[in-house]
Amino acid sequence: MSSVLTIRGGVPLTGRVTVRGAKNLVPKAMVAALLGNEPSVLRNVPEIKDVEVVTSLLQLHGVTVEKDPHTGDLTLDPTNAKTASHTAIDAHAGDSRIPILLCGPLIHAIGEAFIPDLGGCKIGDRPIDYHLNVLRQFGAVVEKRPGGIHISAPGGLKGAKISLPYPSVGATEQVLLSATRAEGITELSGAATEPEIVDLIAVLQKMGAIISVQTDRTIRIEGVPDLGGYNHRALSDRNESASWASAALVTRGDIFVEGATQRDMMTFLNTYRKVGGGMDIGDDGIRFYHKGGKLTPLVLETDVHPGFMTDWQQPLIVALTQAEGVSIVHETVYENRFGFTEALIRMGANIQVHRECLGSVPCRFGQRNFLHSAVISGPAQLTGTDIDVPDLRGGFSHLIAALAANGTSRVTGIDIINRGYERFTEKLAGLGADFDITSAE
Ligand code: EPU
Repeated sequence: MSSVLTIRGGVPLTGRVTVRGAKNLVPKAMVAALLGNEPSVLRNVPEIKDVEVVTSLLQLHGVTVEKDPHTGDLTLDPTNAKTASHTAIDAHAGDSRIPILLCGPLIHAIGEAFIPDLGGCKIGDRPIDYHLNVLRQFGAVVEKRPGGIHISAPGGLKGAKISLPYPSVGATEQVLLSATRAEGITELSGAATEPEIVDLIAVLQKMGAIISVQTDRTIRIEGVPDLGGYNHRALSDRNESASWASAALVTRGDIFVEGATQRDMMTFLNTYRKVGGGMDIGDDGIRFYHKGGKLTPLVLETDVHPGFMTDWQQPLIVALTQAEGVSIVHETVYENRFGFTEALIRMGANIQVHRECLGSVPCRFGQRNFLHSAVISGPAQLTGTDIDVPDLRGGFSHLIAALAANGTSRVTGIDIINRGYERFTEKLAGLGADFDITSAE
């Protein structure tokens, strides 16, 4: 049964939260374990839905996944990997986008892969054409079948020279996971180089892979026939950290985010400072707080790393509704990531979305009917309302808007937030938020 959150707004969030391993690394490191010929150990694993989905998919393929009851560390043993029943795999259709990354490791482990139709947040078309093209370039045969896609490689995967049309995070990971045990050398140009990708490369290097990253977005992988296991502590979730940082600003609060890492968040921290947010950067985390004065509007473009991440945009926009003046945000990674502004407007925010590229560089979405630039005028008094959560980051933004608003909000669809925010209701309670959870009728 789904839950409803009734939030009574106006309470500054204050206290401490702990952020653990990154949602955008942990499930992929779990998939990488399939490439080894011995068990791997993954530490700093958060309790989120994507981890459950990948655990279940790996178990269906004969991988033993054991969770330490005290630490939550996972031991993944791939030595008995096997073909899974299509019906069992199909039960996961729509749950997550991670299954597409099982292709390369499954082909290396058992010679074939069946991938259910994919889920993930509804923030644009989110096609998988780059992934399938990459696999074909490694020599894989891709067939559409009822309920999913079947992929095989009768002659094994062979290293290839690949160029991505856009630095896609997932397609870069697809190349890494396929190339490390492919025959020969792979050269990927136009790669994404997000910290989560560098951490995945660290995992693969621990397993015995040979991978070098050049400064021009080229990654070179020398295939090796076998890989061992790894013992790795996942990097911290910089998107969750940035979300709590925005929550502190929006609610005029003060939150110490244990686990927030300066190195991976530098672009966010610069922007946070420009808006007027306060921060104290420590060794084990960062304190984010509202300094009491006015917030400053700004002009912002999302981009691939080292640019301002698309996932940071939605929670920060809620803070920009409170800044004195006009802010502009140009979203260049996803064509449809402003749907969440509709609820903010109903709460009293002054936001217009435009088709034009309102940024210094025209992006792929200009002139194509996508509402991908937002103009936000502040400050606006937000008032509580009924909200149905649309996607992970948009949903978190709605929560913090409701926490800052005058009056009561009724938020449904909050289970989506569990996909990427570990125990978020417990964390909110610990920060002093005033809310109840009930079951939906
Ligand atoms: N794209 C294609 N074809 C493809 C793959 C991607 O056109 O085959 C396009 C996408 O539609 C998008 C752009 O390329 O416009 C970038 O997509 P990318 O492949 O980089 O995204 P992803 O790997 O699907 C990951 C994160 C996202 C994060 C993006 C960008 C995971 C599980 N997801 O998605 O995280 O926004 O990279 O950094 O790692 C989130 O955490 O809420 C989230 C959506």
